[in-house]
Amino acid sequence: MAPSSDIVANVHSAIDSSNKTLLKSDALYTYILNTTVFPREPECMRDLRLVTDKHPSGYMQSSADEAQLLGMLIKMAGAKKTIEVGVFTGYSLLATALALPADGKVVAIDTDRDCYEVGRPFIEKAEVAHKVDFREGPGLDRLAELLAEQEQEDGGEATYDFAFVDADKPNYVNYHEQLLRLVRVGGTIIYDNTLWGGTVAMPLGTLMSGLDTRFSAAIRDLNGKLAADPRVEVCQLAIADGVTICRRLV
Ligand SMILES: C[S@@+](CC[C@H](N)C(=O)[O-])C[C@H]1O[C@@H](n2cnc3c(N)ncnc32)[C@H](O)[C@@H]1O
Repeated sequence: MAPSSDIVANVHSAIDSSNKTLLKSDALYTYILNTTVFPREPECMRDLRLVTDKHPSGYMQSSADEAQLLGMLIKMAGAKKTIEVGVFTGYSLLATALALPADGKVVAIDTDRDCYEVGRPFIEKAEVAHKVDFREGPGLDRLAELLAEQEQEDGGEATYDFAFVDADKPNYVNYHEQLLRLVRVGGTIIYDNTLWGGTVAMPLGTLMSGLDTRFSAAIRDLNGKLAADPRVEVCQLAIADGVTICRRLV
């Protein structure tokens, strides 16, 4: 066959370790979703995702590729006891509950029970509701409650294997301190939105909404602190809105 005139030659010649990212087009993302993500997405998750897409705040839902990553990491870690801060309608929660073993548990924290109620029927239909311990209220308070329970039940020993944080960004640095006392050494803590729409790399003073200015600054602060934190190993992924994986070292 004659070579096409728009053939792409030497795709790697202009690449070094500082620009080795493939995500330069929406078409490439669609390709990933259609090739690897959607065909493997459990039906219950697809149903919940499509319902949540119609919710007025549907943009808050974790993406399907991120949920797939979450499920994979939970299985690879062999996690049994997990925490989620920021549930919304439960898409990432359902991914977590499906990935956990039959005797696994996820403590799911959110200030908004009504949104959780949107997703609860899907979690029940998937027969994983017994793994979910939903706790309504601010993350800081509910995590403090878990710390108190841990003190009573386990003499203060950290027993959680895994945590996923996807709630109020300015509190991530505070959640980090609490989670380092709840997640055991060797366990995993994941932070969502750690590139905040790419704003973290924009010049300081770039015009943004008040919320974006606050959240972007909070995420920058978090990223700097995590990178310098000797208590964790970190890995920044450019998936979704940025996902940072921390592994507790000490
Ligand atoms: C981006 S959404 C979570 C999306 C969810 N992970 C998913 O897959 O659909 C953020 C959630 O954090 C919750 N939230 C905001 N502030 C919070 C706080 N202080 N404590 C607990 N949850 C909070 C919101 O109610 C909202 O449901």
